[in-house]
Amino acid sequence: MNLLIYGPPGSGKGTQAELLHQSFDIPHIATGDILRGEVAAGTPLGLKARPIMAAGSYVPDDIMIGIIRNRLQQGDSQKGFVMDGFPRTIPQAEALDSLLDKLGRRFDRVVYLNVETHELVRRLAGRMTCPIDQKTYPPGTEKCPVDGASLIQREDDTPEAVKKRIEVYLEKTLPLLDYYRRQGLVSEVEGVGTIDEIHKRVQTALGQSADVAKS
Ligand code: AP5
Ligand code: MG
Repeated sequence: MNLLIYGPPGSGKGTQAELLHQSFDIPHIATGDILRGEVAAGTPLGLKARPIMAAGSYVPDDIMIGIIRNRLQQGDSQKGFVMDGFPRTIPQAEALDSLLDKLGRRFDRVVYLNVETHELVRRLAGRMTCPIDQKTYPPGTEKCPVDGASLIQREDDTPEAVKKRIEVYLEKTLPLLDYYRRQGLVSEVEGVGTIDEIHKRVQTALGQSADVAKS
C-alpha cells in the first residue's frame, strides 16, 4: 500500500499517518519530521532549512526531491509507505511520479483531510511536539507518552508562521488536489471529529478504494 496523506497544516496528517503506519505496518515518511531531525542535529541541511521553516515558507524543491529519492532507496519502503508532507508543489509531484515510475510503483490512494482554516489555527496554536521523535499531541499534553520527554512548541507554530504556512499551502500545495484528482486517486475525508473517528473514515475510504481496484 503506497499512500499519500494530504491536507493543510494542522489537518492531522501526522496523527493519521502514524495510525496508518501502525495499522498497515508501513513506514511513515514525513518530510517535516526529516527536516526537523536535520535541524536538531545541526547538519548543513538543517542550518539551511531552519529559518525557512520557522518563517513558514517551503524548502527548495531540489533539496526536497533529493531527500525523498534517498528515503525511498531504504529497504523498509519496499512493502509500501505512507507519505506525509511530500509532495507539496507540482514540480515535487512530477518528480515523485517519475521516481515511483522508475521503481515500478505508484500511489494507491491520496487521502485528503478536509479541515476549515479556523480549526487549523485553533489546533496549531496549542499543539505540542516531542523533541525526540517529532510526534505531535493535543494542547495541554506535557510529556511524550512514548519516551517521557517534555513536549515543546514547534518554532513554526507562532501565529505569524501559521498564517504564512496556510497562505503558502493555498498557493503552492492546493493545486496538487486537482493533479491527483485527474489521476483518480483522491479520497476526501472530513477531518473534523475525534482522532479515532477520522482514522475509521480513512480506513473506510481505503477499503472502498481497494474494492474498486479489485473489481
Ligand atoms: P510539516 O511538518 O509537514 O508541517 P505541516 O504541513 O504544516 O503540517 P503539520 O505537521 O503542522 O500538521 P499535521 O497536518 O501533521 O497535523 P498534526 O497531526 O500534527 O512541514 C513543516 C515545514 O517543513 C513546512 O512548512 C516547510 O517549511 C518544510 N517542508 C516539509 N516538507 C516540505 C516539502 N515537501 N517541500 C518544501 N518544504 C517542506 O495535528 C495538528 C494538531 O491537531 C496536533 O496537536 C494534533 O494532536 C491535533 N489533532 C489531530 N487530529 C485532531 C482531531 N481530529 N481533532 C482535534 N485535534 C486534532
Ligand atoms: Mg505533521
